[in-house]
Amino acid sequence: MIAVRNGSRARARLVALGAHVPERVVTNAEIETWVDTTDEWITTRTGIRERRFVAEDEAASDLGVVAAERILDEAGMAAADVDVLIVPTASPDHIFPSTAALVADRIGAHKAAAFDLNAGCTGFVYALAQACALIESGIGRNVLVVGAEALSRLMDPTDRSTCILFGDAAAGALLVAEEADAQGVTGFLGFELGADGSGGHDLVVPAGGSRQPLGAVDAPGDACIQMNGREVFRFATRVMVDSCTRMLEAVEMGIDEVDLLIAHQANSRIIDHAVPKLGIDPERVLNNLDRYGNTSSASIPLVLTEARDDGRLEPGHLMLLVAFGAGLTWGSTLVRYEPA
Ligand code: ACO
Repeated sequence: MIAVRNGSRARARLVALGAHVPERVVTNAEIETWVDTTDEWITTRTGIRERRFVAEDEAASDLGVVAAERILDEAGMAAADVDVLIVPTASPDHIFPSTAALVADRIGAHKAAAFDLNAGCTGFVYALAQACALIESGIGRNVLVVGAEALSRLMDPTDRSTCILFGDAAAGALLVAEEADAQGVTGFLGFELGADGSGGHDLVVPAGGSRQPLGAVDAPGDACIQMNGREVFRFATRVMVDSCTRMLEAVEMGIDEVDLLIAHQANSRIIDHAVPKLGIDPERVLNNLDRYGNTSSASIPLVLTEARDDGRLEPGHLMLLVAFGAGLTWGSTLVRYEPA
Protein backbone atom coordinates (compact mmCIF):
# COMPACT_ATOMS: atom_id res chain seq x y z
CA MET A 1 0.00 0.00 0.00
CA ILE A 2 1.00 3.61 -0.34
CA ALA A 3 -0.45 6.44 1.75
CA VAL A 4 -0.22 10.19 1.63
CA ARG A 5 -1.46 12.10 4.68
CA ASN A 6 -4.14 14.37 3.32
CA GLY A 7 -5.93 15.76 6.36
CA SER A 8 -8.19 12.70 6.47
CA ARG A 9 -11.38 13.03 8.47
CA ALA A 10 -12.28 9.38 7.99
CA ARG A 11 -13.93 7.28 10.65
CA ALA A 12 -13.38 3.53 11.05
CA ARG A 13 -16.52 1.43 10.59
CA LEU A 14 -16.74 -2.26 11.51
CA VAL A 15 -18.64 -3.77 8.57
CA ALA A 16 -18.02 -7.52 8.48
CA LEU A 17 -17.16 -10.52 10.65
CA GLY A 18 -16.07 -14.09 9.96
CA ALA A 19 -14.58 -17.17 11.59
CA HIS A 20 -13.19 -20.63 10.98
CA VAL A 21 -12.50 -23.49 13.39
CA PRO A 22 -10.60 -26.71 12.72
CA GLU A 23 -12.53 -29.99 12.41
CA ARG A 24 -11.11 -31.97 15.31
CA VAL A 25 -13.29 -31.74 18.44
CA VAL A 26 -11.52 -32.51 21.72
CA THR A 27 -14.00 -33.26 24.49
CA ASN A 28 -13.39 -33.15 28.24
CA ALA A 29 -13.81 -36.94 28.15
CA GLU A 30 -10.77 -37.18 25.85
CA ILE A 31 -8.72 -34.95 28.18
CA GLU A 32 -9.66 -37.30 31.05
CA THR A 33 -7.52 -39.90 29.23
CA TRP A 34 -4.43 -37.60 29.23
CA VAL A 35 -4.37 -36.19 32.78
CA ASP A 36 -5.91 -36.64 36.22
CA THR A 37 -9.06 -34.56 35.72
CA THR A 38 -12.80 -34.97 35.21
CA ASP A 39 -15.42 -33.55 32.89
CA GLU A 40 -17.24 -32.32 36.00
CA TRP A 41 -14.15 -30.42 37.30
CA ILE A 42 -13.48 -28.77 33.94
CA THR A 43 -17.12 -27.85 33.34
CA THR A 44 -17.75 -26.37 36.77
CA ARG A 45 -14.38 -24.54 37.05
CA THR A 46 -14.21 -23.19 33.49
CA GLY A 47 -17.52 -23.69 31.61
CA ILE A 48 -15.64 -25.54 28.85
CA ARG A 49 -17.07 -28.82 27.49
CA GLU A 50 -15.06 -29.16 24.27
CA ARG A 51 -12.62 -27.26 22.07
CA ARG A 52 -11.15 -27.59 18.57
CA PHE A 53 -7.56 -28.56 17.76
CA VAL A 54 -5.69 -28.15 14.47
CA ALA A 55 -4.64 -31.28 12.54
CA GLU A 56 -0.99 -32.34 12.44
CA ASP A 57 -0.43 -30.47 9.18
CA GLU A 58 -2.32 -27.28 10.14
CA ALA A 59 -1.00 -24.06 11.65
CA ALA A 60 -2.46 -20.68 12.63
CA SER A 61 -2.16 -19.25 9.10
CA ASP A 62 -4.24 -22.11 7.63
CA LEU A 63 -7.13 -21.14 9.89
CA GLY A 64 -6.52 -17.45 9.25
CA VAL A 65 -6.76 -17.82 5.47
CA VAL A 66 -10.27 -19.33 5.64
CA ALA A 67 -11.50 -16.77 8.19
CA ALA A 68 -10.08 -13.89 6.13
CA GLU A 69 -11.79 -15.15 2.98
CA ARG A 70 -15.13 -15.45 4.80
CA ILE A 71 -14.88 -11.88 6.15
CA LEU A 72 -14.09 -10.49 2.70
CA ASP A 73 -16.92 -12.54 1.14
CA GLU A 74 -19.38 -11.12 3.63
CA ALA A 75 -18.22 -7.59 2.83
CA GLY A 76 -18.14 -8.23 -0.91
CA MET A 77 -14.56 -6.96 -1.02
CA ALA A 78 -11.71 -8.31 -3.13
CA ALA A 79 -8.52 -9.24 -1.28
CA ALA A 80 -6.63 -6.93 -3.63
CA ASP A 81 -8.45 -3.98 -2.03
CA VAL A 82 -7.16 -4.67 1.48
CA ASP A 83 -4.65 -1.98 2.53
CA VAL A 84 -3.48 -3.55 5.78
CA LEU A 85 -3.82 -7.04 7.26
CA ILE A 86 -3.18 -7.36 10.99
CA VAL A 87 -2.99 -10.81 12.56
CA PRO A 88 -3.15 -10.69 16.35
CA THR A 89 -1.73 -14.03 17.51
CA ALA A 90 0.06 -15.62 20.43
CA SER A 91 0.71 -18.79 18.40
CA PRO A 92 2.12 -17.62 15.04
CA ASP A 93 3.35 -20.14 12.48
CA HIS A 94 6.93 -18.91 13.07
CA ILE A 95 8.78 -16.18 14.99
CA PHE A 96 9.25 -14.80 11.49
CA PRO A 97 8.00 -14.43 8.80
CA SER A 98 4.82 -13.02 10.22
CA THR A 99 1.65 -15.09 9.98
CA ALA A 100 0.02 -11.98 8.50
CA ALA A 101 2.41 -11.95 5.53
CA LEU A 102 1.66 -15.64 4.86
CA VAL A 103 -2.11 -15.10 5.05
CA ALA A 104 -1.93 -11.98 2.84
CA ASP A 105 -0.08 -13.94 0.18
CA ARG A 106 -2.50 -16.87 0.22
CA ILE A 107 -5.68 -14.78 0.03
CA GLY A 108 -4.23 -12.57 -2.70
CA ALA A 109 -3.94 -9.36 -0.64
CA HIS A 110 -0.84 -8.46 -2.62
CA LYS A 111 -1.15 -4.70 -2.09
CA ALA A 112 -1.50 -4.98 1.67
CA ALA A 113 0.96 -4.16 4.41
CA ALA A 114 0.83 -7.12 6.79
CA PHE A 115 2.04 -7.63 10.33
CA ASP A 116 1.42 -9.73 13.47
CA LEU A 117 0.53 -8.23 16.81
CA ASN A 118 1.22 -10.05 20.08
CA ALA A 119 -0.74 -8.85 23.08
CA GLY A 120 -1.71 -12.34 24.29
CA CYS A 121 -5.45 -12.81 24.47
CA THR A 122 -5.94 -9.02 24.30
CA GLY A 123 -4.59 -9.14 20.73
CA PHE A 124 -7.92 -8.60 18.98
CA VAL A 125 -8.78 -5.44 20.94
CA TYR A 126 -5.24 -4.05 20.50
CA ALA A 127 -5.44 -4.82 16.77
CA LEU A 128 -8.78 -3.02 16.47
CA ALA A 129 -7.11 0.04 18.00
CA GLN A 130 -4.32 -0.20 15.43
CA ALA A 131 -6.77 -0.66 12.57
CA CYS A 132 -8.92 2.25 13.75
CA ALA A 133 -5.86 4.52 14.05
CA LEU A 134 -4.58 3.57 10.59
CA ILE A 135 -7.95 4.40 9.03
CA GLU A 136 -8.64 7.58 10.98
CA SER A 137 -5.15 8.96 10.26
CA GLY A 138 -5.72 8.39 6.54
CA ILE A 139 -3.01 5.74 6.17
CA GLY A 140 -5.32 2.90 5.07
CA ARG A 141 -8.96 2.66 4.01
CA ASN A 142 -9.62 -1.09 4.29
CA VAL A 143 -8.02 -2.87 7.24
CA LEU A 144 -8.58 -6.56 7.89
CA VAL A 145 -7.99 -7.93 11.41
CA VAL A 146 -7.82 -11.73 11.72
CA GLY A 147 -7.00 -13.33 15.06
CA ALA A 148 -5.41 -16.70 14.22
CA GLU A 149 -4.49 -19.15 16.96
CA ALA A 150 -3.19 -22.70 17.15
CA LEU A 151 -2.54 -22.72 20.89
CA SER A 152 -2.83 -26.51 21.05
CA ARG A 153 0.66 -26.51 19.47
CA LEU A 154 2.07 -24.70 22.51
CA MET A 155 0.20 -26.73 25.07
CA ASP A 156 1.71 -29.35 27.39
CA PRO A 157 -0.80 -32.24 27.26
CA THR A 158 0.52 -33.48 30.63
CA ASP A 159 -0.17 -30.18 32.44
CA ARG A 160 -3.76 -30.35 33.71
CA SER A 161 -3.82 -26.69 34.70
CA THR A 162 -3.45 -25.51 31.09
CA CYS A 163 -4.34 -28.37 28.70
CA ILE A 164 -8.03 -28.08 29.61
CA LEU A 165 -8.32 -24.41 28.69
CA PHE A 166 -7.12 -23.65 25.20
CA GLY A 167 -8.54 -24.24 21.73
CA ASP A 168 -7.71 -23.30 18.14
CA ALA A 169 -9.63 -20.94 15.87
CA ALA A 170 -9.36 -17.92 13.59
CA ALA A 171 -11.83 -15.06 13.48
CA GLY A 172 -11.84 -11.38 12.76
CA ALA A 173 -13.40 -8.25 11.35
CA LEU A 174 -13.10 -5.85 8.43
CA LEU A 175 -12.87 -2.13 9.16
CA VAL A 176 -13.37 0.39 6.38
CA ALA A 177 -13.06 4.16 6.11
CA GLU A 178 -16.27 6.17 6.30
CA GLU A 179 -16.44 9.93 5.85
CA ALA A 180 -16.57 11.57 9.28
CA ASP A 181 -19.83 13.36 8.56
CA ALA A 182 -21.62 10.22 7.22
CA GLN A 183 -25.14 10.19 8.68
CA GLY A 184 -25.88 7.60 11.34
CA VAL A 185 -22.43 6.01 11.48
CA THR A 186 -20.85 5.81 14.94
CA GLY A 187 -17.79 3.60 14.50
CA PHE A 188 -15.49 3.29 17.52
CA LEU A 189 -16.26 5.47 20.55
CA GLY A 190 -12.90 4.83 22.22
CA PHE A 191 -10.36 2.39 23.62
CA GLU A 192 -9.00 1.62 27.07
CA LEU A 193 -5.73 -0.33 26.77
CA GLY A 194 -3.00 -1.29 29.20
CA ALA A 195 -0.07 -3.58 29.96
CA ASP A 196 1.77 -4.65 33.10
CA GLY A 197 4.92 -6.62 32.28
CA SER A 198 5.63 -7.18 35.98
CA GLY A 199 3.10 -10.02 35.68
CA GLY A 200 4.63 -11.39 32.48
CA HIS A 201 5.94 -14.51 34.24
CA ASP A 202 2.37 -15.49 35.26
CA LEU A 203 1.51 -16.52 31.69
CA VAL A 204 4.51 -17.40 29.57
CA VAL A 205 6.05 -19.69 26.97
CA PRO A 206 9.60 -19.51 28.38
CA ALA A 207 11.54 -20.94 25.42
CA GLY A 208 11.68 -20.24 21.71
CA GLY A 209 12.75 -16.62 21.86
CA SER A 210 16.04 -14.84 22.45
CA ARG A 211 15.90 -15.35 26.26
CA GLN A 212 15.93 -19.14 25.94
CA PRO A 213 16.39 -20.30 22.34
CA LEU A 214 14.74 -23.60 21.43
CA GLY A 215 18.13 -25.25 21.04
CA ALA A 216 18.79 -24.51 24.73
CA VAL A 217 15.50 -25.70 26.21
CA ASP A 218 16.06 -26.75 29.84
CA ALA A 219 12.88 -28.80 30.21
CA PRO A 220 10.34 -29.96 27.60
CA GLY A 221 7.60 -27.91 29.33
CA ASP A 222 9.59 -24.71 28.71
CA ALA A 223 8.45 -24.69 25.08
CA CYS A 224 4.82 -24.78 26.26
CA ILE A 225 2.35 -22.43 27.93
CA GLN A 226 3.06 -22.09 31.65
CA MET A 227 0.50 -20.33 33.77
CA ASN A 228 -0.07 -19.26 37.34
CA GLY A 229 -3.83 -19.81 37.03
CA ARG A 230 -4.85 -18.25 40.33
CA GLU A 231 -2.89 -15.04 39.69
CA VAL A 232 -4.20 -14.74 36.13
CA PHE A 233 -7.73 -15.36 37.42
CA ARG A 234 -7.37 -12.59 40.02
CA PHE A 235 -5.91 -10.21 37.44
CA ALA A 236 -8.61 -11.01 34.86
CA THR A 237 -11.56 -10.53 37.21
CA ARG A 238 -10.13 -7.17 38.34
CA VAL A 239 -9.21 -5.70 34.95
CA MET A 240 -12.37 -6.86 33.19
CA VAL A 241 -14.52 -4.75 35.50
CA ASP A 242 -12.04 -1.86 35.78
CA SER A 243 -11.41 -1.56 32.05
CA CYS A 244 -15.12 -1.61 31.13
CA THR A 245 -15.89 0.93 33.84
CA ARG A 246 -13.11 3.29 32.73
CA MET A 247 -14.21 2.93 29.08
CA LEU A 248 -17.84 3.79 29.86
CA GLU A 249 -16.86 6.69 32.15
CA ALA A 250 -14.56 8.14 29.48
CA VAL A 251 -17.44 8.42 27.01
CA GLU A 252 -20.01 9.28 29.70
CA MET A 253 -22.22 6.30 28.94
CA GLY A 254 -24.05 3.87 31.18
CA ILE A 255 -23.99 0.10 30.86
CA ASP A 256 -27.71 0.24 29.94
CA GLU A 257 -26.74 1.85 26.64
CA VAL A 258 -24.64 -1.19 25.68
CA ASP A 259 -26.50 -3.78 23.60
CA LEU A 260 -23.97 -6.60 23.99
CA LEU A 261 -20.98 -7.25 26.23
CA ILE A 262 -18.43 -9.56 24.66
CA ALA A 263 -15.57 -10.58 26.92
CA HIS A 264 -12.53 -12.61 25.97
CA GLN A 265 -13.59 -16.22 26.48
CA ALA A 266 -11.11 -17.51 29.08
CA ASN A 267 -13.29 -18.90 31.85
CA SER A 268 -17.05 -18.57 32.43
CA ARG A 269 -16.37 -17.83 36.09
CA ILE A 270 -14.40 -14.70 35.13
CA ILE A 271 -17.34 -13.45 33.06
CA ASP A 272 -19.92 -14.48 35.70
CA HIS A 273 -17.94 -12.54 38.31
CA ALA A 274 -17.92 -9.35 36.23
CA VAL A 275 -21.57 -9.35 35.11
CA PRO A 276 -23.20 -8.34 38.43
CA LYS A 277 -20.37 -5.91 39.20
CA LEU A 278 -20.96 -4.14 35.88
CA GLY A 279 -24.73 -4.32 36.38
CA ILE A 280 -25.44 -5.62 32.88
CA ASP A 281 -28.39 -7.91 32.12
CA PRO A 282 -26.86 -11.43 31.67
CA GLU A 283 -29.05 -11.83 28.56
CA ARG A 284 -26.84 -9.25 26.87
CA VAL A 285 -23.58 -11.10 27.61
CA LEU A 286 -22.31 -13.53 24.98
CA ASN A 287 -20.55 -16.78 25.88
CA ASN A 288 -19.49 -19.77 23.74
CA LEU A 289 -16.76 -21.15 26.00
CA ASP A 290 -18.55 -24.47 26.27
CA ARG A 291 -17.79 -25.31 22.63
CA TYR A 292 -14.45 -23.61 21.91
CA GLY A 293 -12.53 -22.94 25.15
CA ASN A 294 -10.03 -20.10 25.18
CA THR A 295 -9.05 -19.27 21.60
CA SER A 296 -7.04 -16.19 22.61
CA SER A 297 -7.02 -13.49 19.89
CA ALA A 298 -9.82 -15.27 18.01
CA SER A 299 -12.24 -15.58 20.91
CA ILE A 300 -14.12 -12.24 20.71
CA PRO A 301 -14.70 -12.25 16.93
CA LEU A 302 -15.60 -15.97 17.10
CA VAL A 303 -18.45 -15.20 19.53
CA LEU A 304 -19.45 -12.17 17.47
CA THR A 305 -19.63 -14.19 14.25
CA GLU A 306 -21.86 -16.77 15.92
CA ALA A 307 -24.07 -14.03 17.36
CA ARG A 308 -24.41 -12.43 13.93
CA ASP A 309 -25.41 -15.82 12.48
CA ASP A 310 -28.00 -16.60 15.16
CA GLY A 311 -29.44 -13.06 15.14
CA ARG A 312 -28.31 -11.98 18.60
CA LEU A 313 -26.00 -9.39 17.04
CA GLU A 314 -27.97 -6.98 14.88
CA PRO A 315 -26.86 -4.10 12.68
CA GLY A 316 -26.54 -0.97 14.80
CA HIS A 317 -25.87 -2.79 18.06
CA LEU A 318 -23.40 -1.08 20.38
CA MET A 319 -20.85 -3.65 21.59
CA LEU A 320 -18.57 -3.43 24.60
CA LEU A 321 -15.57 -5.68 23.88
CA VAL A 322 -13.15 -6.48 26.70
CA ALA A 323 -10.10 -8.73 26.85
CA PHE A 324 -7.15 -9.61 29.09
CA GLY A 325 -4.20 -11.89 28.63
CA ALA A 326 -0.48 -12.56 28.51
CA GLY A 327 1.77 -9.58 28.98
CA LEU A 328 -0.12 -9.07 31.19
CA THR A 329 -2.35 -6.94 29.00
CA TRP A 330 -5.94 -5.75 28.95
CA GLY A 331 -8.18 -3.65 26.76
CA SER A 332 -11.73 -2.66 25.99
CA THR A 333 -13.53 -0.75 23.27
CA LEU A 334 -17.02 0.45 22.46
CA VAL A 335 -17.99 -0.01 18.82
CA ARG A 336 -21.14 -0.28 16.78
CA TYR A 337 -21.66 -3.18 14.33
CA GLU A 338 -22.45 -1.35 11.10
CA PRO A 339 -22.50 -3.69 8.10
CA ALA A 340 -22.60 -1.92 4.76
N1 ACO B 1 -8.54 -31.13 37.03
C1 ACO B 1 -8.66 -31.40 38.35
N2 ACO B 1 -8.04 -30.66 39.30
C2 ACO B 1 -7.30 -29.62 38.89
C3 ACO B 1 -7.14 -29.30 37.53
C4 ACO B 1 -7.79 -30.10 36.59
N3 ACO B 1 -7.73 -29.87 35.27
N4 ACO B 1 -6.35 -28.21 37.43
C5 ACO B 1 -6.02 -27.86 38.68
N5 ACO B 1 -6.58 -28.72 39.55
C6 ACO B 1 -6.50 -28.73 41.01
C7 ACO B 1 -5.28 -28.00 41.50
O1 ACO B 1 -4.16 -28.85 41.51
C8 ACO B 1 -5.72 -27.61 42.90
O2 ACO B 1 -5.56 -28.71 43.75
P1 ACO B 1 -5.01 -28.49 45.25
O3 ACO B 1 -6.02 -27.62 45.92
O4 ACO B 1 -4.92 -29.87 45.78
O5 ACO B 1 -3.69 -27.79 45.08
C9 ACO B 1 -7.22 -27.36 42.75
O6 ACO B 1 -7.60 -28.01 41.53
C10 ACO B 1 -7.58 -25.91 42.67
O7 ACO B 1 -6.65 -25.27 41.77
P2 ACO B 1 -6.80 -23.78 41.35
O8 ACO B 1 -5.66 -23.42 40.45
O9 ACO B 1 -7.05 -22.92 42.54
O10 ACO B 1 -8.16 -23.87 40.51
P3 ACO B 1 -9.03 -22.72 39.99
O11 ACO B 1 -10.38 -22.83 40.52
O12 ACO B 1 -8.30 -21.39 40.11
O13 ACO B 1 -9.11 -23.07 38.43
C11 ACO B 1 -8.10 -22.34 36.39
C12 ACO B 1 -7.93 -23.16 37.67
C13 ACO B 1 -9.28 -22.91 35.63
C14 ACO B 1 -6.84 -22.47 35.55
C15 ACO B 1 -8.36 -20.88 36.79
O14 ACO B 1 -7.39 -20.44 37.70
C16 ACO B 1 -8.36 -19.95 35.62
O15 ACO B 1 -9.21 -19.99 34.75
N6 ACO B 1 -7.39 -18.98 35.59
C17 ACO B 1 -7.34 -17.99 34.55
C18 ACO B 1 -6.80 -18.62 33.32
C19 ACO B 1 -6.86 -17.71 32.14
O16 ACO B 1 -7.77 -16.93 31.99
N7 ACO B 1 -5.84 -17.86 31.31
C20 ACO B 1 -5.81 -17.29 30.04
C21 ACO B 1 -5.52 -15.84 29.99
S1 ACO B 1 -5.57 -15.31 28.37
C22 ACO B 1 -4.05 -15.49 27.48
O17 ACO B 1 -3.35 -14.53 27.22
C23 ACO B 1 -3.60 -16.82 27.02
